[in-house]
Amino acid sequence: MDDSPIRDTFHRPLRDLRISVTDRCNFRCTYCMPAEIFGESYQFLSKAQVLSFEEITRLTRIIVRLGAVKVRITGGEPLVRQELEKLLVMLRQIDGVDDLTLTTNGYYLPQKAQALKDAGLNRITVSLDSLDETVFRHMNGNRSSVQKVLDGITAAEQAGLSPIKINAVVQRGVNDHTVVDLARWAKDKGYILRFIEYMDVGNRNGWRMDDVVPAKEIVERIHAVMPLEEAGRSYKSEVALRYRYADGGGEIGLIASVTMPFCGACSRMRLSPEGQIFTCLFASQGTDLRDPLRAGASDDDIEQIIRRTWGERVDRYSELRFLETDTPRDPKVEMYHIGG
Ligand code: GTP
Ligand code: 5AD
Ligand code: SF4
Ligand code: SF4
Repeated sequence: MDDSPIRDTFHRPLRDLRISVTDRCNFRCTYCMPAEIFGESYQFLSKAQVLSFEEITRLTRIIVRLGAVKVRITGGEPLVRQELEKLLVMLRQIDGVDDLTLTTNGYYLPQKAQALKDAGLNRITVSLDSLDETVFRHMNGNRSSVQKVLDGITAAEQAGLSPIKINAVVQRGVNDHTVVDLARWAKDKGYILRFIEYMDVGNRNGWRMDDVVPAKEIVERIHAVMPLEEAGRSYKSEVALRYRYADGGGEIGLIASVTMPFCGACSRMRLSPEGQIFTCLFASQGTDLRDPLRAGASDDDIEQIIRRTWGERVDRYSELRFLETDTPRDPKVEMYHIGG
């Protein structure tokens, strides 16, 4: 068996695995799971459809053998999955996982942070789009106050999850007037704040280019009040472009997938809750691993499917976004399904 790390058609290695453990979420962010669509009668995946912790762990072990060194747990909201800490304990035991982290909306962290840390989670990223109560409630479908998320972030800090990163999606006319306040708060607290350009993920958020605030503009607004210096990326496939505060008070990041795509170094593979692997956030289709897994495939059989999928990978959606084409695109996978 060839043990060399796998490469796609653009010679990109596989380094990061993002595992979505559920398609459910207790928030209804307008840009991700708008409440009009994800209402009472929405059919989420059943328990039988979703991979068990044992199945996730087995697939992760194989994907780590193929080069992944960083594992990120996402959702939906990963903390709505019962006993998630048990999965973390299992993943922690896999040799070769250098970085085990999780992206959450923060709501359940007051109860969960310590258990996550004890289970072996290294660090955490919490989404928080604004400190303004009205703006935040509007963006999360009125499911949470700002204070609730702040309490979660404090709990994570007290549990020793470090560094703490905060993700904020910026939408023009919605929360862009609150970015400086958010930056000031994060700087004060010593958290790494990352602004994400609103993306055209999925098919349901009615994305328009006019709603995007280019990263450059966000940097200018903050720089005018708290001077910044460019700091580049800390590792090749990092999604965030970093800027350091000139006074030495920490850093921010800009995730500019729309105005400055970073597909060239993309080494991310995504595993969906029901066991499909996706080679791009904007993919229309995944490759199913659950059926072979449940039909008794060996680790080598599964490894071959993953090798083939990665080997054929041609994705660079963000770089191609604005190219004219005559063929209409197939519908894309939804963000809440593969977790950003
Ligand atoms: P670090 O490990 O801390 O560098 O973070 P990360 O890059 O894994 O960050 P995180 O999961 O917090 O990602 C932040 C956001 O960046 C996601 O929620 C997505 O919105 C966006 N993002 C992450 N990966 C990709 C990607 O491969 N393509 C695009 N277009 N956006 C991405
Ligand atoms: N554009 C940019 N970021 C998004 N996220 C969800 N939907 C979008 C979108 N349309 C972000 C969330 C969270 C992470 C999981 O993905 O805010 O930080
Ligand atoms: Fe839930 Fe995160 Fe989507 Fe908001 S962005 S609805 S918190 S999964
Ligand atoms: Fe990777 Fe696709 Fe995002 Fe480009 S658009 S960085 S290929 S996930």
